[in-house]
Amino acid sequence: MSQIQSWLVTGAAGCIGSNFVRYWCDQYPDNKVVVLDSLTYAGDRNSLADLETNPGFQFVQGDITDHHLVESLLREHQLNGIVNFAAESHVDRSISGPGTFISTNIVGTQRLLEAARQVWLGDGFSGDHRFHQVSTDEVYGSLGDDDPAFTEDHSYQPSSPYAASKASADHLVRSYQHTYGLHTSISNCSNNYGPYQFPEKLIGLTICNLVRGKALPIYGTGKNIRDWLFVDDHCRGIDRVLRSGEPGCTYNIGGGTELTNIELVERLCDLADRLIGDSKELQLRFPDSLAAKGVPSRSLIEFVSDRPGHDWRYAIDISRIERDLGYQPATQIDAGLSLTMRWYFDNEAWWQSVMDGSYQQWIDTQYSTGD
Ligand code: NAD
Ligand code: DAU
Repeated sequence: MSQIQSWLVTGAAGCIGSNFVRYWCDQYPDNKVVVLDSLTYAGDRNSLADLETNPGFQFVQGDITDHHLVESLLREHQLNGIVNFAAESHVDRSISGPGTFISTNIVGTQRLLEAARQVWLGDGFSGDHRFHQVSTDEVYGSLGDDDPAFTEDHSYQPSSPYAASKASADHLVRSYQHTYGLHTSISNCSNNYGPYQFPEKLIGLTICNLVRGKALPIYGTGKNIRDWLFVDDHCRGIDRVLRSGEPGCTYNIGGGTELTNIELVERLCDLADRLIGDSKELQLRFPDSLAAKGVPSRSLIEFVSDRPGHDWRYAIDISRIERDLGYQPATQIDAGLSLTMRWYFDNEAWWQSVMDGSYQQWIDTQYSTGD
């Protein structure tokens, strides 16, 4: 069982990182957590606002590619764990502009690894250390309808520039363990959903469009399949890996809930119809939603052009983490979707502000760049 108590958590102004730091500070209030985030369009310091007064918490705005900054943070705060969430994470953006995916996801990960090597394997450092890389099931490629779910031994066959950049980062992490003996671990997770998700990803986007009465875009046939995991369950899985996973280990984390995109969006429509339909207060707050007008939200669904190179199906086998670390996802999909939708209802100011400007600009220029 690891005794590490002081952590650098990168990318924690984003969705999963902010949920993770909230979870971690709650579980381990005596730990020190320094957050490093460059606050790209996807990062919002407000996502951590409730943690700012926590005595063990500190926020630093900076880039993971800044090796000197990372090294000085590790030394100054005597941090002996890194959990790397920082990334460009949206597949569509990696198709329209792959450049930043290379610099953050690949170069950034290598710079973090190098800073960790300099400090933790250099003179004067004693004690345990751990570099944890938060990765994705997309590194394994795409499955057909009847293929078995991805295990950790599945070959890497990334399809999109995003997936390829995450695959490269995983290889670098393993190389630092193998070559230098840096203590590392990797978790490959399926699609997350929950509070603080930037509303460009399917669930956040669908909810924000539902309450504004806007079209719900479904790529291609809508029959592509994803395995959905509530973000708190991801955080608990990473916790198990950090505390009990062996150095050099890789674990899949997933929800065991495979849905086609159209099934998922239809569930969200029906949920909005129920929640808004039953509440006068929500009808007044979201007058543009179809649910407030008594019209079924499913009529907002619009099939649009497919994503280039769109992976067909992801499904993830979590036997290893279940067996070795006693992990099980706890949140059923309907409960998780309801919790998430209610969170977006209650936090309109948050999603309106993150959507303003940067998101609209990107939608306007989609597929017009190609660096
Ligand atoms: P996100 O896009 O919501 O947040 C990414 C965060 O990283 C933002 O706060 C951003 O400001 C920060 N960041 C980006 N570039 C940076 C840089 N160069 N230096 C410092 N900070 C930088 O992402 P997310 O959905 O929370 O994903 C977090 C991690 O989990 C990513 O590594 C992603 O690949 C992985 N992952 C995501 C999912 C998912 O479903 N979202 C599933 C599996 C794995
Ligand atoms: O599998 C894990 C990955 O899940 C993470 O590594 C990525 O960071 C994360 O973004 C996510 O990637 P996806 O491409 O699967 O997620 P996204 O929410 O973009 O899309 C989910 C599915 O819905 C996918 O099949 C594309 C489709 N889609 C998406 C959007 C945004 C639509 O049909 N319409 C949409 O508007």
